[in-house]
Amino acid sequence: GKLELSNIDPKTLSNDQAAITTVKGERKGAYRDTNGELHIVDTTCTHVGCEVEWNSGDRTWDCPCHGSRFSFTGDVIEGPAEKPLQKYDYKMIDNLTSEDS
Ligand code: FES
Repeated sequence: GKLELSNIDPKTLSNDQAAITTVKGERKGAYRDTNGELHIVDTTCTHVGCEVEWNSGDRTWDCPCHGSRFSFTGDVIEGPAEKPLQKYDYKMIDNLTSEDS
């Protein structure tokens, strides 16, 4: 089913698991790929700003508004969006997270 906003720490994700979580109040999409690498993107679609949803079958971020689709790394697979989702370096997220605690 559809992923709901959670407070999962992306570090705790298993391989091939995605989560929608917040860092410093900003909504982020996180996915740990089958090689164990973590990918963090902003879930705001770069078309006109709807929130993308995780598609676990295709491992993509899909926008419900006008059908744009993005890879788990945030790159455009299908328009109308032309720009990739904003991508984050996990180390930066980690630093932001630890500053909070
Ligand atoms: Fe995402 Fe239009 S806002 S496709």
